[in-house]
Amino acid sequence: MRSSQAQGPSARQEVDSGIAFFRGQLMPIKDANVSIATHALNYGTGCFEGIRAYWNGDNNELFILKGLEHFDRFLRSAKILKIQVPYTAEELLEWTRAMLKANQFRQDVYIRPLAFKGAAVIKVTLSGLHDDLAIFAVPMGDYVATEGLKATVSNWVRIADNIIPSRAKVTGAYINAALANDDAALDGYDEAIMLSQDGQVAEASSSNLFMVRGGRVITTPVTADILEGITRQAVFQLATDQGIPVDERPIDRTELYVADEVFLSGTGVQLAGVVEIDHRSIGSGTTGPITAALQDAYFKAVRGSDTRYLDWLTPVYAEDR
Ligand SMILES: Cc1ncc(COP(=O)(O)O)c(C=O)c1O
Repeated sequence: MRSSQAQGPSARQEVDSGIAFFRGQLMPIKDANVSIATHALNYGTGCFEGIRAYWNGDNNELFILKGLEHFDRFLRSAKILKIQVPYTAEELLEWTRAMLKANQFRQDVYIRPLAFKGAAVIKVTLSGLHDDLAIFAVPMGDYVATEGLKATVSNWVRIADNIIPSRAKVTGAYINAALANDDAALDGYDEAIMLSQDGQVAEASSSNLFMVRGGRVITTPVTADILEGITRQAVFQLATDQGIPVDERPIDRTELYVADEVFLSGTGVQLAGVVEIDHRSIGSGTTGPITAALQDAYFKAVRGSDTRYLDWLTPVYAEDR
């Protein structure tokens, strides 16, 4: 189903209440504040994650999806930015569980870990500044468009790894995605596809991109200035389990126009089918069969309905295990 107003497949969420983890403890979000002189606010020197937790009403359980993988990437992003995070991925996942429990969420939520240069210092540097850490969550609306997306190839070029590290989820880098997304939305598209400086496909504004050609699922390699997506890895596993071959290789812009199917993968977009790019319909102009099969498998896996993928999930309310 299409949204009536193009605004990209990720939901917009206001954050003003609830309990956050900040500076080593749980506290009301309204008290978790920083100075206007904060380095990260002035220079974009932070890194973050986006993690979903899915509510399973039958089991009365909230499942964090691929929490350790996200916190491993969070620590890698922090390393690149020289941000000290005084916790392991396992400890961060435990604090996330505690924060979600404190909020008593019984619905799908979106979790936002954020590590940043917290010093109130005017100096463009990464070293010698103290760091801060927060984790908060917001209910994630039921609805984000997962089919029928219309995309355009943006004339904003995807940040290159030696400009702003593309494999780190850097706060300031999202200016690049926001510029592309905003223009795409104002022009009536749901999503922006970003090319890298060499003119080849990188990914979408905040998701990885896959195409299907000749029965093969194809995506760009980790050296194509992409974020190394966690959902991208999940797609590899689901496709392999269904006997669908997966290739990582460069993709030309016009290969997208002649692809049998195109879909996006990401925590926010989940798996979303693209049916039109730059006014050319993709394949039959509706969600293709391989996209549909992978979506079906993904949505079962994330809610714990397919026991083969239970190791993707961390239950929030179950006793520690
Ligand atoms: C630029 C970018 N690429 C790709 C992704 C997909 O990554 P993941 O599947 O880990 O959410 C995201 C979302 O976090 C993103 O912001």
